[in-house]
Amino acid sequence: RRFLRNFGRGTLVVLLTATGAFLYVTQRDVNPGDQLPADPEKPTLVVLGSGWGATSFLKTLDTEEFNVVVISPRNYFLFTPLLPSVTVGTLEPRSIIQPTRYITRHKKRKVDVYEAEAQEVDPIKKTVTFQDMSDIRGAAGSVTIPYDYLVYAVGCENQTFGIKGVPEYACFLKELSDADKVRTKLLDCIETAAFKNQPESEIDRLMHMVVVGGGPTGVEYAGELHDFLIDDLKKWYPEIADRLRITLIEALPNVLPAFSKQLIQYTESTFAENKIDVLTRTMVKDVKERSVVVQDANKEIREIPYGLLVWATGNTSRNITRDLMGKLTSAQTQRRGLLVDDYLRLLGADGVYAVGDCTATQYAPTAQVASQQGIYLAQLFGKLGQKAKLERQLAQLRSQGDVGSAEIEGVVKKLNRVSKLTEFHYSHQGSLAYIGSEKAIADLPFFNNNLASGGGAAMLFWRSAYISTLYSVRNRTLVLADWAKVKIFGRDVSRE
Ligand code: FAD
Ligand code: NAI
Repeated sequence: RRFLRNFGRGTLVVLLTATGAFLYVTQRDVNPGDQLPADPEKPTLVVLGSGWGATSFLKTLDTEEFNVVVISPRNYFLFTPLLPSVTVGTLEPRSIIQPTRYITRHKKRKVDVYEAEAQEVDPIKKTVTFQDMSDIRGAAGSVTIPYDYLVYAVGCENQTFGIKGVPEYACFLKELSDADKVRTKLLDCIETAAFKNQPESEIDRLMHMVVVGGGPTGVEYAGELHDFLIDDLKKWYPEIADRLRITLIEALPNVLPAFSKQLIQYTESTFAENKIDVLTRTMVKDVKERSVVVQDANKEIREIPYGLLVWATGNTSRNITRDLMGKLTSAQTQRRGLLVDDYLRLLGADGVYAVGDCTATQYAPTAQVASQQGIYLAQLFGKLGQKAKLERQLAQLRSQGDVGSAEIEGVVKKLNRVSKLTEFHYSHQGSLAYIGSEKAIADLPFFNNNLASGGGAAMLFWRSAYISTLYSVRNRTLVLADWAKVKIFGRDVSRE
């Protein structure tokens, strides 16, 4: 009895401490304190974007020595690795976003945040022109501001290879609105297929979900769709659930070219078990309203009817990036993206740094790379800030004639130390992807080797890795609650 009593007391203490810590952290997050005002003596640092690169930069940056301005058409950060889970309702959209102001309001000096699209960067005059492109625009029009430093992190847009019909008929999977659209369209297809007197051929078409691109985005989406079929469709639409077909079309000989051979085979065999058709060596040539035209492995052209088409064939540069390259033609010679040096300085421009998917580097366009670059750059700006502080201190000391040389020497030494910059080095933490039916694949660096693992254990690792990398306690709580909700009640099949 004594043991139980003590055990009970111990548990209560642990629970109360955990609740207290949770409340402290959440309340600190949602109740930001006062900030230093803008200082006209400090340089202006403009940040374009609110994605992985820009957000990790802002999170790490010490703003004391800069007047920071953030410009992005999205006033939030989106945790893209969990975006495929939103397309079928495993996660709710707001669980994986974090308002940018939640980050900037916690900075030492006030940060200006504008929900706007940068339209032009002039690297000669050192200005950025931007405009509010949302539905409600007010009367401000387009605005041009000067910068001393620019952090360019606008990411990429969807690659379509100029294939006709893609923008009109396919759904992308890059933004939160895309995931919402996919979810709505999927349920619309299913409800329409269940409509009275629907012809058999039309049911087959409507229930055929086609995914183009066998990279991680396409594979993860196909996996989520399969879960939805097994867990929910069979329960709520028993009469047509068996008619749902998922086809993944990939131009290369296999899916997931960036993963190890063993995991490619594991994914393809899991998909075969899950009745997901994988058409490799098959290239989509044309997209029509109700069918895609493909050239198959035998070089034959055929048409595949679909109800929902999800297009995930990778990235291409945004117009503003192409425009910027066009202004720096002698230095910017790579069509794939912006060229930067080892310190992430944009080649050919003064005071401009670029991170993430908009750059053309030796690294893959991933969140991991963009966030490490953002953190590196914030540390580099930290040194620039310290340097400015020390230079001010030195000038002041020198102006006071009676200061001993030892004191000046000390500041000069510190100045030399912070002036030494180290190059950016990427540290690969491994690649993870969810492939459906509670299985994931993980390619992890292990000493000098690679540890490849697929299955349920990898799925638990995938979940815990993403829970720990989510940006805030709020996001973690919401995602955990969504996972629990789906386990208890299943996914919500109502269409908004
Ligand atoms: P983004 O995160 O795309 O951010 C770009 C920002 O710029 C956005 O805020 C955008 O609104 C803003 N912007 C756009 N145009 C303008 C403009 N004109 N002016 C100002 N701002 C502008 N990577 C991984 O490492 N692991 C994963 O598991 C993973 N999963 C993914 C799943 C999906 C579905 C997708 C689509 C991608 C995934 N990625 C993953 C890749 C990862 O999301 C990208 O590599 C990463 O987002 C790149 O970061 P970024 O900051 O360069 O660009
Ligand atoms: P991707 O570039 O990795 O893959 C696109 C695929 O589409 C390619 O395999 C390509 O061969 C295929 N393709 C192109 N045109 C085609 C056509 N006409 N017909 C058929 N197939 C065609 O693109 P994805 O998946 O969008 O990923 C983009 C980036 O984001 C990558 O760097 C990826 O690593 C990263 N990412 C990482 C994830 C993870 O680690 N879990 C998840 C999602 C994205």
